[in-house]
Amino acid sequence: MDRIVINGQKRLSGAIHINGAKNAAVAIIPAAIAAEGVCVIENLPRIEDVAILANALQSLGMDCKFLDPHTLQIDASSIKERKMTYDLARNMRASYYLLGAMLGRFKEAEVPLPGGCNFGARPIDLHIKGFEAMGAKITQEHGMLYAKADRLAGANIYLDMASVGATINIMIAAVNAEGVTTIDNAAKEPHVVDTANFLNMLGANIKGAGTDMIRITGCQRMHGGEYQIIPDQIEAGTYMIASAITGGDVVVENIIPKHMDSLSAKLSEMNCKLEEGGDYIRVMAPEPLHGVNIKTMVYPGFPTDLQPQMTALLSTAKGTSVITETVFDNRYQYMTELKRLGCEVTVEGRVAVIEGGSTLTGAEVRATDLRAGAALIIAGLAAEGRTVISNVKYIDRGYEGVETKLGALGADIRRETR
Ligand code: EPZ
Repeated sequence: MDRIVINGQKRLSGAIHINGAKNAAVAIIPAAIAAEGVCVIENLPRIEDVAILANALQSLGMDCKFLDPHTLQIDASSIKERKMTYDLARNMRASYYLLGAMLGRFKEAEVPLPGGCNFGARPIDLHIKGFEAMGAKITQEHGMLYAKADRLAGANIYLDMASVGATINIMIAAVNAEGVTTIDNAAKEPHVVDTANFLNMLGANIKGAGTDMIRITGCQRMHGGEYQIIPDQIEAGTYMIASAITGGDVVVENIIPKHMDSLSAKLSEMNCKLEEGGDYIRVMAPEPLHGVNIKTMVYPGFPTDLQPQMTALLSTAKGTSVITETVFDNRYQYMTELKRLGCEVTVEGRVAVIEGGSTLTGAEVRATDLRAGAALIIAGLAAEGRTVISNVKYIDRGYEGVETKLGALGADIRRETR
């Protein structure tokens, strides 16, 4: 079990390259099943979730291989299986995209029910509502999801919540349905748009991705093609926050600055100095920072996936900050670990009140999920003394070479493999 060891209070400076977006990768790789040709997907992050998905496609009998660590070639014409076994998909929540892809292409699929995670239940009722509206029959038994349809017909679907997963999953299935499907109250995240662009490159007809009304006109056959996924908004935001908490001066490059607008606005409000270019943002924090209030929202609001990292930063800023988590009903479980580093936070339901100005001190802590692990790294970078973070496997799910990247910026950080 790997651990990450940080000796804190080193100012970060230099440039950091951002990899492809995890949440685009875990949608686009399964979406390749919708095509009856060879797909080459570029700019993939070298992370655990991508490796697990590539394995899963291979287990379905598809010809799926890495042309280099960031490029995957998939030939879905060779698929043999419609059943995804539990042990292959259990570590990954986004395995549910395989359901939409196989249901769309083959009108049947068997996929393990996605696991919960450390911030509450993660229902998929909206995914199922969409599939059933298109004519599929979905049953759940023995921890497995079974989907079957004689045919899929376009339907008008309203999402009670602007769910990223449901929006993407319904889109992936609908490209192979007969007729027009509309998704009302659709999610607008960058990875929703990226998945729609990928499917359109394969010959789909999707209009309105990035707005709250998406219209998919099903088509009979989809060909293969080459596609480069977008940079990771959350990885970029994590390193922008890391620069700020160390009083650093870091250029976060290979990004789409527009995707960072909500975070950039909050960092500027805290007294950070930001310079924005075509594909980079420079984050400086020469002066002391002060607290701000944050309300997580669906895109283009402040991303829930940067909420834990922001809590670490706000703990060291002056003054009191209030965070309201509106997307998940229980995304503060990481607080117990942050408190071991000296963060002063009280949580009441969806609201966290952070007493700033804390001097963080190193401790032994453990990551409880991907973004919680990122928050512990950020706090460790600012803490006096040594911080040891265990359960690094969670961090490796979403961050390629985190210790290498931070070390190159001047952090005293290393990975211990035990
Ligand atoms: C995606 O999860 C991301 N994961 C999450 O990122 C991210 O936090 C989340 O979107 C919100 O942006 C991937 O893309 C693989 P949702 P997803 O469906 O699709 C409720 C990370 O760290 N809901 O938008 O599961 C749900 O409970 C991960 O990269 C239903 O009620 O999120 C939640 O309260 C963590 N029924 C809200 O909607 C459903 O059928 C938003 O969930 C689906 C969701």
